[in-house]
Amino acid sequence: MPPTTPSHPPLIGRSDELARIDAALAAAEGGQSHTVLLAGEGGVGKTRLARAAAAAAERRGFAVAEGRAYSVESGVPYAVFADALGPLLRRLDPSALTVLTRGASAELAHIFPGVLSPARGERAESGESAAEAKARLYWTFLQLLGRLSTRQPLLLVLDNLQWADAASLELLHFVARQAHAPGLGGRLLVLGTYNDAEGVPSLLRDAEQSLVGLGAARVEWIAPLSAEQTLQLVQRIFEVPADVVRGFAAMLHEWTRGNPFFVEETVKSLVESGQLQQRDGRWTGWNVESIALPRSVRDAVLARVDRVGDGARALLDLAAVLGTRVRYATVRAVSGEPEESILESLDELRRARLLVESVESGVDDEYDFSHPLVRDVVYAALGRPRAQRLHAQIAAALERAYGERAPSHADELAYHFTRAGGGAHRKALGYLAESGRRALERHADRAAATYLESALEQIDADGEDGGEAAGLRAGVLEGLARARQRLGEHREAEALWLRLKQDAERGGDWRTVAMVERRVGLMHSAGGRHDRAIERFDAGIAAAMRAGDDALATRIRLARANSLQAIGRRDEARGDVHSALDSAVALGDESLLARVHRAMLLLHLWTGPVADARAHGERAVKLAADSKERLLEWSAHWAMAILGGLTGDAASTAHHVRESERLAAEIGSPVLRLWTDEVAIEYMAGVGEWTTALARAEQAIPAARALGQRTLLARVLVWTGLIHRGLGDVERTREHIEEAWRLVGGDATGDGPLDVHAVVPAHTGMSGYLMLLGENARAVEIGERGLAIADRTGDVAWAIYRLLPFVIENSLYLEDYERAARHNARLRRESERLGHALGLAWADATDALLTYLTGSAVDAVPLLRAAAGALEAVPFVFDAARLRRLIGRAMVDAGDSEGAERELRRAHEVFVRLGAQREIRATREQLRALGARPPAAAAATAGVGALSAREAEIARLVAARKSNKEIGTTLDISSRTVSTHLSNIFAKLGVSSRGELTDLVRTQGLG
Ligand SMILES: Nc1ncnc2c1ncn2[C@@H]1O[C@H](COP(=O)(O)OP(=O)(O)O)[C@@H](O)[C@H]1O
Ligand SMILES: [Mg+2]
Repeated sequence: MPPTTPSHPPLIGRSDELARIDAALAAAEGGQSHTVLLAGEGGVGKTRLARAAAAAAERRGFAVAEGRAYSVESGVPYAVFADALGPLLRRLDPSALTVLTRGASAELAHIFPGVLSPARGERAESGESAAEAKARLYWTFLQLLGRLSTRQPLLLVLDNLQWADAASLELLHFVARQAHAPGLGGRLLVLGTYNDAEGVPSLLRDAEQSLVGLGAARVEWIAPLSAEQTLQLVQRIFEVPADVVRGFAAMLHEWTRGNPFFVEETVKSLVESGQLQQRDGRWTGWNVESIALPRSVRDAVLARVDRVGDGARALLDLAAVLGTRVRYATVRAVSGEPEESILESLDELRRARLLVESVESGVDDEYDFSHPLVRDVVYAALGRPRAQRLHAQIAAALERAYGERAPSHADELAYHFTRAGGGAHRKALGYLAESGRRALERHADRAAATYLESALEQIDADGEDGGEAAGLRAGVLEGLARARQRLGEHREAEALWLRLKQDAERGGDWRTVAMVERRVGLMHSAGGRHDRAIERFDAGIAAAMRAGDDALATRIRLARANSLQAIGRRDEARGDVHSALDSAVALGDESLLARVHRAMLLLHLWTGPVADARAHGERAVKLAADSKERLLEWSAHWAMAILGGLTGDAASTAHHVRESERLAAEIGSPVLRLWTDEVAIEYMAGVGEWTTALARAEQAIPAARALGQRTLLARVLVWTGLIHRGLGDVERTREHIEEAWRLVGGDATGDGPLDVHAVVPAHTGMSGYLMLLGENARAVEIGERGLAIADRTGDVAWAIYRLLPFVIENSLYLEDYERAARHNARLRRESERLGHALGLAWADATDALLTYLTGSAVDAVPLLRAAAGALEAVPFVFDAARLRRLIGRAMVDAGDSEGAERELRRAHEVFVRLGAQREIRATREQLRALGARPPAAAAATAGVGALSAREAEIARLVAARKSNKEIGTTLDISSRTVSTHLSNIFAKLGVSSRGELTDLVRTQGLG
């Protein structure tokens, strides 16, 4: 009978740390999700503190999910998240699970492979990029967390992050950032721990720095126990008075430097060696002079390990080699011992507190080392040959036990076979390749690269060729090339693609050659290296022809057209698309045909004629719908919505925006949703639904940030900033435009690769903002710089929308009529060529203004009115109303003050509806100057009627003395949205406080 191990002491100290964690829990409960990281050396008490936090959370009514990373798992994608949330999901009944996952359970199976089942033959939406699919996965997971933590606040504990796999860390980074961002909901506290003693892995370090920088996470450094606390610990372990152990505790503190794990192991070994003994119910042996302390933690642990029986020791060795939580069933499958003796050994190990029962034991009994350091010591003591033998034994037994399901445990099998030495070589290779393939499918690109790189090294070392080996090699090369590409390591990716191509050429496999050329070409074109892309596409088309694959050649031709168009070789692009059309028709391939028509739409969208764009777009939409390729269908609708916007067809824009929204929702893609948001926001800005547009932007901007969609983010920021500009809100205009400007590196010069579709709009925004400040000369300068960039790439559409109009307007303010006329001639020319109704209306307006400013008011008035009418027809209501205000002035000059008043009242009405403060003020002044009375109290009568249903609802709630927060809760919107609505309500009603609004609602009622 071994000596009794002393009792498990309560938590010593840590009250400050716990108080701070408790405050974070309280904040999370109140909707402020946050992340706390506990850092410190091994054994200092991080896990223990996290456990105490979990207990505190449970007392507050939180659900707690605890997960742990293991050193052997650092390659297994999402392991720590699966460990934490798997049991929680498993406990749910299927219907609850369906509600929580909203039908995305097949996708979430990438993260929880053991819990949720992937749909058979589930594939990414065809045409979706890897980055988009990954964004979709992360987003879906975030929503799952949001829904879970809306039902019940959630504490997510992630222990030992220093061992977490790359995919888990990336996901953690994403989740923590999003949980922090306002408006994404949920009540979540993430509590991570990591050992910072042996160098923190750079991925973890980077994630931490970024999160701390954003204010999304906080780090707690956990210090060792003080001398006083060490004394307390000894006292509590042995239930002895302080006086008896003071000297001993002081020595122990010096020896262990207050590391509680070291303290515990030391005293346990002293007890087990009999130096500390219990006599008549009292512990004795505290004499500092006579005690011999173990030389190190390792010695202390080893001394204890050596004392267990042979059977128990064998089991402990096995557990150390398995390396993760140990399931009883696994031990049974691997050890070969009879059940009876396994159970006995487990009990012995538990009594010795070398193993502990796992907290989150689900169906199975699960065991864990009492501390990872114990595992390390046991494993190191094995020595290499014995460890190898055990890895081999485990690998073979697990493979047998998994049977057909072995491939879905490829990570684990690859790990053990790789370490099993000699004979297991082939198996190791196979499972490495399989793990890599699966990691790639699960968007764990770094893990995939690591697995496949090892596989490739082995293949190269083997130097075998032909037959099965060749097939394996091709698969590994392709997977690795993809992984490198996704990680942005384009040079490495290209080298791998090249190897694959050379192999294919040697084997005369021209189809593969063509596919590789296409991939490499697409990689270059995505990076803006169109010249190199075109070379690859040329080679690809030649290879596809050689393989006799017309469909493939046609697809490559479409890709080439896209690159040609991007660098302004439009005629050649047109040639490619037309010949693609012929082939697609000849092949009778509907999905290919849909792609061709979409390409036609995009070609004509930017270069005209618009009627052709529309005709092809309609065909593309129809064919894509028939072919059930939703992504293709989405992109056709999306482009059609833009076309509608360009050509001033509001009904068509609205229709295609709705369809794009529907498809983005069906596909479940947050990225597609964002692209749709952008069009919708600009559409609403044009027709004057500014409040709705701003509310939508408020959702879209954080989402774009979250998803790393820089191009879109910059553009949405610009469009939103320009709405604030219309509202006369200088501060918010500045915030939005400056963020966009920083994002695109607006001030940078030089002619490196440019993201034209973000850079040019950022110039547009900056020019508009400077105009708001009255810095017209700077506005012209920035605007013309933007024009030069657009010209370099031939993207005229960006010049028309809305760069030229801004440059022109500023030139007019500067009385530089020559410049205005020159730019306007160009605006008209390009707009005519594209069939751009809005551009033409703007051009008409400028000509009318020039007539007014340099000629006669009488001549100008009919021209101005026609232009305003054209802008209203688009509709682009804000600019139209501004023009009407100018018409008012021109009519006064022409002696028609009655007509002027009519125009001004009309403009006033629009400005009030939009909430455009500056314009309202200016219009009222003009009316007063005419001797006319401006509409009463900012058109209070028209005003109340002008409120949208939502605004009226909010006004009513304000009158009922509700706070913005309460209103937000009632209407299920953020309080930020409420305040946006409110400032618009104030503007529309011409009131300036909640009190005034309340009075107005009370006196006038609200329908
Ligand atoms: N503040 C404390 N009071 C009492 N025991 C502690 C305290 N901190 C740690 N321990 C004990 O020390 C051992 C190591 O702590 P643990 O939390 O596992 O360390 P870490 O996670 O930092 O490696 C555990 O047995 C734990 O119960
Ligand atoms: Mg720990």
